[in-house]
Amino acid sequence: MTNLLIHSMTEFWDIILGTLHAAEVRNIAEIGAEFGGTTQHLAAYARATGGSLTSIDPAPKQVFLDWAQATPEVRHVPLPSLEAMPSLGDIDAWVIDGDHNYYTVFNELRIAGELAQRDGRPLLAFLHDVSWPTGRRDMYYAPERIPAEHRHPYSTDRGCTLDRADLLPPGHGFRGDGHFAWALHEGGPRNGVLTAVEDFMAQGRAAGTKLAYAHVPAVFGLGILFDAGAPWAEAVANLVFPWHDNALLATLEQNRLRNYLAVIEWQDRERDRLSA
Ligand SMILES: C[S@@+](CC[C@H](N)C(=O)[O-])C[C@H]1O[C@@H](n2cnc3c(N)ncnc32)[C@H](O)[C@@H]1O
Repeated sequence: MTNLLIHSMTEFWDIILGTLHAAEVRNIAEIGAEFGGTTQHLAAYARATGGSLTSIDPAPKQVFLDWAQATPEVRHVPLPSLEAMPSLGDIDAWVIDGDHNYYTVFNELRIAGELAQRDGRPLLAFLHDVSWPTGRRDMYYAPERIPAEHRHPYSTDRGCTLDRADLLPPGHGFRGDGHFAWALHEGGPRNGVLTAVEDFMAQGRAAGTKLAYAHVPAVFGLGILFDAGAPWAEAVANLVFPWHDNALLATLEQNRLRNYLAVIEWQDRERDRLSA
């Protein structure tokens, strides 16, 4: 069947691969494997460069578990990122695509930054889902894992749509159908993945750490965050900044999202009509 909505980080593989080479990355940690689409690319890179790959996911798909078991380059850690990360070391690059909410992503970046400092390695992180719908709205795979005081009120059956900060009624809009929950409101402080990146950068600036950030506005958004003082920073900047906030990509992304949302709306309307 046609994939109506491409959504994997694999779509960015050329950009990621070029950046890994430019930064001479050896040891990679991936957060969020799901089917292992991106993991397979990362494993091939680790194999070719004599590096390592740690993949953190508390609930990946069985196809990933079977593949990981038969792939010696990959070490799977079946824990949520914030529990798994502190025990890692010497990581050159983080590929972050786990739970798409402010609390998780801000703390993933905080821990990655602390480990980079401890191990004397410049920070490099690829972050998925920095654009709509999770750029400014929390999504929770497992709301109970987020401390209540850091969690926005949420819904598991109401969907979101463009140009609306609230959610649509149950059974309407872009929704998780039991797989994830949305924060009821888009925007405001401590809400969404991009807000987490911005706050982490602001905190770094205040502490005298210079971070650079490029934002590729396609397929839910890819962020590339890196230490601007790294020996490879210029090479990485030359690769990623031509994509930064590219207007054509942003227009294409808006167009595909509107088309997808229209399909969902038609399906929901038809379901309502048939059940009336
Ligand atoms: C969008 S999928 C990842 C897709 C994959 N990176 C790709 O490019 O195809 C998100 C995955 O993150 C995992 N996940 C959810 N919360 C997590 C957490 N706190 N730490 C690590 N992984 C998490 C989910 O189990 C799910 O498999």
